[in-house]
Amino acid sequence: MKIRAAVLEEFGQPLVVQEIDLAGPRPGEVLVRLEACGVCHTDLYTASGADPSGYAPTVLGHEGAGIVEAIGEGVESVRPGDRVLTLFSPQCRECLHCRSDRTNLCLAIREQQNLGFLPDGTTRLSRDGEPIRHFMGTSAFAEATVLPEIAVAKVDPAAPPDVVCTLACGATTGIGAALYVAHVEPGSTCAVFGAGLVGLGAVAGCKLAGAERIICFDMSEERLAMARAQGATDTFVGGAGAVDQVLELTGGFGADYTFEATGNVKVMRQAVECARMGWGLCTVAGVAGKGETLDVVPRYLITGRRIAGASFGGAKGRDRVPELARLYLDGKLDLESFITHHRPLDGVNDAFELMERQDGIRTVLTF
Ligand SMILES: NC(=O)c1ccc[n+]([C@@H]2O[C@H](COP(=O)([O-])OP(=O)(O)OC[C@H]3O[C@@H](n4cnc5c(N)ncnc54)[C@H](O)[C@@H]3O)[C@@H](O)[C@H]2O)c1
Ligand SMILES: [Zn+2]
Ligand SMILES: [Zn+2]
Repeated sequence: MKIRAAVLEEFGQPLVVQEIDLAGPRPGEVLVRLEACGVCHTDLYTASGADPSGYAPTVLGHEGAGIVEAIGEGVESVRPGDRVLTLFSPQCRECLHCRSDRTNLCLAIREQQNLGFLPDGTTRLSRDGEPIRHFMGTSAFAEATVLPEIAVAKVDPAAPPDVVCTLACGATTGIGAALYVAHVEPGSTCAVFGAGLVGLGAVAGCKLAGAERIICFDMSEERLAMARAQGATDTFVGGAGAVDQVLELTGGFGADYTFEATGNVKVMRQAVECARMGWGLCTVAGVAGKGETLDVVPRYLITGRRIAGASFGGAKGRDRVPELARLYLDGKLDLESFITHHRPLDGVNDAFELMERQDGIRTVLTF
């Protein structure tokens, strides 16, 4: 079939929205008619050419929501008509990692996905007979896409696609850091660095987990106001004094749980240093620049602080994403305030510009 899609033709150049071909689903695959897709930093990072593992041409987009239109042979977990979210982090439920509750990093299709192929080593996307590679296994800046069955999460059909699509990456990354990686306990004190979608999600996750005090740092007053709306109790402009500010608010001990959602290694260090002596856990969600390292004085570890990190908030997507969508539908999770702009597919480059200017939190493309 013919679909309209935003193609990354050349690094550093605007995406080109055009008509390309999408083949039907093969065994174990699902054809999804996309309704909405959030625009995330990783899309921009790849488009810019800064990601050394990036390739072109490809169809970007990995925060997609849509309706299953067709299924390949052997697909049993979803049916045509189901509303699903795309999962760049799949869950096969069978591999060693999927069977462990210690990680969400499914091993089933990693290699082919990283190379831009579906699990059988081919693509469903093409143009004039030439294959176009998939991106993050999702390629959701398009009217439709084909994904492995293990890379879709079925959500309540009542979930509005242009809202819950944020659960396909950014929101779940932050919420999950609190719920599935740190396992924040009720009554605890948390400190969150960064109040973009990931940091705001971490604040929301700490709140859901029953944290008593949530301290949040960001460079933008506007974002700090959003953090307060999500449940932050103390907010500050970030900077060199952040560690002391947390120590001051916690009787000199530090926070039980800290979260880093800026991608800046200096801020990661602050998040380690303001974690509580004895048991403080620092969870890193931000992605640092290529080659950058985290500098930590080992004494911080000897005295009981720990450092964790996770991709996609440690969430096993097919299990957790539907639960989070449920929390949203039940009014326990505010996802709507994360969405600050809507654009049609043709506005994808505009969405990148908004992100570069830090205008708003999420732009959602609707098809
Ligand atoms: N682990 C994952 O699976 C995953 C998924 C998505 C995004 N990420 C990463 O998470 C990070 C955050 O993503 P986002 O979409 O929220 O980004 P964002 O750019 O919207 O937000 C980052 C925020 O950090 C703030 N900040 C900058 N310097 C600071 C400082 N010194 N102290 C406090 N705050 C400071 C900025 O003001 C900004 O609001 C990025 O590094 C992104 O690549 C990781
Ligand atoms: Zn993302
Ligand atoms: Zn698996």
